[in-house]
Amino acid sequence: MNILDNPLYCDCKKVLLTKEELEAIVDRLAAEIEETYRNSTKQLVAVIILKGSMPFSSDLIRKIKLPLQVDVMKVSSYGAGTKSSGEIKVSLDLNREDLPDCDLLIIEDIVDSGRTLNRLTQLLRNRNAHSVRTVTLLDKPSRREVAFVPDFCGATIPDEFVVGYGLDYAELYRNLPFVGVLKEEVYSK
Ligand code: IMP
Ligand code: MG
Repeated sequence: MNILDNPLYCDCKKVLLTKEELEAIVDRLAAEIEETYRNSTKQLVAVIILKGSMPFSSDLIRKIKLPLQVDVMKVSSYGAGTKSSGEIKVSLDLNREDLPDCDLLIIEDIVDSGRTLNRLTQLLRNRNAHSVRTVTLLDKPSRREVAFVPDFCGATIPDEFVVGYGLDYAELYRNLPFVGVLKEEVYSK
């Protein structure tokens, strides 16, 4: 049986990244991240951006074999639509005094216009974090509106709206075990 015949998954027109491909991506990113921070004397802090990066972060942090703290932020730019509003809203912020002693690794699901991570990295650098880097599961470089390059990137994808493995459309589909391309008729209704 084709996985997309499952009633939960049938709003996707194709699978872009399978569970196995996602696992391989996470393994590679964890190795790159370990290499980068191995000799740092600062505290590594994984900053999980809610909610989209939850499944990805949860898998990634368990593969990083370095002392690591976990923190969360909630940042939104999209509402229920598929186009960026251009502004970001921080609705849950970091609450720590020790940023100059921290290497912040922001974990995001996808970079699209680039506005969210561009603003967020500026914000955290302005608070004097020792370093601020970003890891994204997915990147859609063809959609960029501001210059932004993630430090670590799982996969570059074409300009298609994707869901699953944390990514949502109108808060649904985050629990799909793969990344799939949503059928246009689902969001053009
Ligand atoms: P940016 O600020 O335009 O780079 O947008 C990043 C945010 O947009 C991500 O964290 C997602 O919440 C959302 N987003 C962008 N593209 C997609 C997509 O294809 N599927 C689901 N969410 C997306
Ligand atoms: Mg998001």
